[in-house]
Amino acid sequence: MDNKRIIIALDGHSSCGKSTFAKAIAARLGYIFIDTGAMYRAVALYAMEHGAIESGIINEDRVVAMLADINIDFRFNPERGASDIYVNGDLVEGKIRTIEVSNCVSAVSSIAQVREKLVKMQQTMGERKGVVMDGRDIGTVVFPNAELKIYMTADAKVRAERRYKELTAKGDSVSFDEIYENVVSRDRADMSRAISPLRKADDAIVLDNSAMSVEEQMAWFDREYHRVLGC
Ligand code: DC
Repeated sequence: MDNKRIIIALDGHSSCGKSTFAKAIAARLGYIFIDTGAMYRAVALYAMEHGAIESGIINEDRVVAMLADINIDFRFNPERGASDIYVNGDLVEGKIRTIEVSNCVSAVSSIAQVREKLVKMQQTMGERKGVVMDGRDIGTVVFPNAELKIYMTADAKVRAERRYKELTAKGDSVSFDEIYENVVSRDRADMSRAISPLRKADDAIVLDNSAMSVEEQMAWFDREYHRVLGC
């Protein structure tokens, strides 16, 4: 591929394989992959562990008050071929993808001050370009001038099935119905929130991967990358 370093903004629904796809693109181009959902999850986890979320009820004032105490950084893990997320120096990668965190992360991500802090961090991370950033508002808010914007989606049942397999393979005891409900309710919350709702940027291209393998998605990416960049 050519040497012009760009920003690739990848937005879309939860559990549609954005991270897998973003990781593969980043590896192909020699870019940095930044999973912004992991940053919102890390804030939600911290809030759960420090008393700002109890029995699923979020105390927004307490979340906002603890923001100054939360330092997030990513460190490349060669075994995963991606970066792990750390909060105040602690590795939290393995703790942020539980159903408990998934159930409260949409609400945490709808708090204005949380978004303000994380969006600023994301903009700094992408300053030097050569990044693939995945999230919900990357092409609309974080990098509205990104050279390539992809909006990813897949059928909700297919997405729930994929997430169910992932969690049960890890040994989590979850039901398919619970996962499906979480996928559907997060779609609703992400698309209807007041600040930076999930929506397709006007200049984003759509990738519906309901019936596509990772290889097919990569072939699609190669075509679109050359078409959009004219190379
Ligand atoms: O991509 P994910 O499922 O790990 O994201 C977790 C949550 O974070 C998701 O419900 C919406 C929120 N999110 C967001 O609001 N903006 C982003 N840029 C990324 C994620």
